[in-house]
Amino acid sequence: MKIIDAPVKQHIELDHNIFLIKLFAPEITSIIKPGQFLNVRVSESVYPLLRRPFSVCDIEGDNLYLMFNIMGQGTKILANKPIDSTIDILGPLGNGFNLNGDYDTAVIVAGGLGAAPFPFFTRSVEDKKEVQTYIGGKTYHDVIKYGMNNINVATDDGSEGFNGNIVQLLFKNLHNLKSKKVKIFACGPTPMLRALKTFCIENEFECEASTECAMACGFGICQGCPIESTQNPEKYLLVCKDGPVFNVKDVVI
Ligand SMILES: Cc1cc2nc3c(=O)[nH]c(=O)nc-3n(C[C@H](O)[C@H](O)[C@H](O)COP(=O)(O)OP(=O)(O)OC[C@H]3O[C@@H](n4cnc5c(N)ncnc54)[C@H](O)[C@@H]3O)c2cc1C
Ligand code: FES
Repeated sequence: MKIIDAPVKQHIELDHNIFLIKLFAPEITSIIKPGQFLNVRVSESVYPLLRRPFSVCDIEGDNLYLMFNIMGQGTKILANKPIDSTIDILGPLGNGFNLNGDYDTAVIVAGGLGAAPFPFFTRSVEDKKEVQTYIGGKTYHDVIKYGMNNINVATDDGSEGFNGNIVQLLFKNLHNLKSKKVKIFACGPTPMLRALKTFCIENEFECEASTECAMACGFGICQGCPIESTQNPEKYLLVCKDGPVFNVKDVVI
C-alpha cells in the first residue's frame, strides 16, 4: 500500500454524465490487480473531506483511470481537478478478483456504475478466457459499456436490450451458461448482488462479487465497513480489507 501524489493527466466525459479521470501513478499501476481500489483524498483545501474509495477502472502504461458519476461534493471536486494538479491516492487496497480457477468463460455481471472495475478486468482476462458481459441498468442511460466486449444488455424499462433485470437475463440464457465452465464476476447495487447470489447458488455457478459500503480509512483500522460472514454468524468481515471482492457464499449480501 502506497500514498502518492498522482498528477491529473486527462478528463474524459463519456455518455450520460459518466467521467473518467486519468492519473499518472506508476507506483500503483505496477502492482494493482483488477477489483482492487484506491482511497482518494479529493480535497486538501476546501474542507476536510474524508477520502473516497474508487475502483481502478483501467490501466494504460504508467497511468490509471477512475470512472465515476457526480454523486456529491467529492466527485464534483474530482471532475474539476485541473490538469497537472495532483491528487493524494492511497492504494492498492483490498482484495481484487481471483482470475485463477477451473473455468473457461468469465461472465461479467455489472449494474450501473458497477461497470467501473471491468475494463481493467476484461483486459486482464480476455487473452486467457472467453469473456461474456452482462450489463444492467434502470434505463439505457444507466448502461455503461466502456472498455467491455461481447455485451448483453438488460434494462428495467426495456429501453435497451432485454426488458427486465440482469439476473432475469442470465436466467433466460441459463442453457448457454450451463453448457460452459463459467465463473461469474459481479459488481453493482446490493439488490442485484443479492439476486445474483441466489441465482448462482441455485445453479451451482461460482461467483465473486465486489461489494460496496461507506468507508473511512480503507485499510482495516477504523472497523467502519463491516459485512456479515456466513461461515461464522458472530464474525464480521471488513469490506475494505477482507473484500471488497468476496465469494458470494462467504458473506451476507
Ligand atoms: C470499494 C468501493 C469502490 C468504489 N468504486 C467506485 C467507482 O469506481 N466509481 C464511483 O463512482 N464510485 C465508486 N464507489 C463509491 C464512491 O466511493 C462514492 O460514489 C463516492 O464516495 C461519492 O462521493 P461524493 O463525495 O461525490 O458523494 P457524497 O457527498 O459522499 O454522497 C452524495 C450522495 O451519494 C450517496 N452515496 C455516497 N456513496 C454512495 C455509494 N457508495 N452508494 C450509494 N450512494 C452513495 C450519499 O449517501 C449521498 O446521498 C466505490 C465505493 C467502494 C466502497
Ligand atoms: S474503512 Fe476503515 S476498517 Fe474498513
